[in-house]
Amino acid sequence: MLEVMNLSAGYGAMEVFWDLSLKFEGGKTTTIVGPNGAGKSTLLKTIMGLITPMSGDVLLRNESCLNAETWQRINEGLVLIPEGRLLFGDLSVEENLIMGAYPKNSRKSLENNKENVFNLFPRLKERRNQISSTLSGGEAQMLAIGRGLMEEPKICLIDEPSLGLSPVMTHEIFSIFRELKEDKLTIVLVEQNTNQALKIADHVYLMQAGRVALSEKRENIDLKKLEDFYFARN
Ligand SMILES: Nc1ncnc2c1ncn2[C@@H]1O[C@H](COP(=O)(O)OP(=O)(O)OP(=O)(O)O)[C@@H](O)[C@H]1O
Ligand SMILES: [Mg+2]
Repeated sequence: MLEVMNLSAGYGAMEVFWDLSLKFEGGKTTTIVGPNGAGKSTLLKTIMGLITPMSGDVLLRNESCLNAETWQRINEGLVLIPEGRLLFGDLSVEENLIMGAYPKNSRKSLENNKENVFNLFPRLKERRNQISSTLSGGEAQMLAIGRGLMEEPKICLIDEPSLGLSPVMTHEIFSIFRELKEDKLTIVLVEQNTNQALKIADHVYLMQAGRVALSEKRENIDLKKLEDFYFARN
């Protein structure tokens, strides 16, 4: 469904990762864990076309999408829910959702999609007129996910959704991901919370210092093994 091949990227002359190859299978959830600064967000931004790679390729349905602009990739169903939420702070909850419906395909089903998001997150419906900069951290994350869903994703890249959330809110957000997974959405989830990440994953990558340090099917890995790798205890 989505694949990166021998990908290298960074900022200016500084390379963040080198020769990175990962595969994200359709309808499955792939989680990428790894310490701060490993290059996880940079990888997602490169997949979205927000950063131009130095070498390598990004394949969407077996075809290179490197020549496609970010908005064209979004129209192909590739959607990023970014780290730090990046909401339009001056706009209401509902207006933020409407901003998510800018891909051409999703405009005609805007009302329908909005209802689906409100069903998924009743709290957003209650607060539909609230200015989004006044939402709690958990509500803001719900809105970021909801706005992403308004784009009618086929492949959803989600960057650290549990950042700054309480365990209860993290649990709530992950139960939504489980529903999306049941609907056969392809999910690429970057997550520091290894425990939660493992619960939902079909495949796990560990990224460290710009490299893939581990690539395992979920059934071949447990939390202890992952953390041993994470902290290089083996
Ligand atoms: N806009 C930028 N300009 C220059 N360097 C950057 C920029 N964004 C990130 N970096 C650097 O690139 C490296 C990788 O950052 P990245 O955000 O991809 O890491 P990450 O794995 O997502 O980390 P975290 O878990 O903290 O979010 C870091 O050393 C970071 O300082
Ligand atoms: Mg990051």
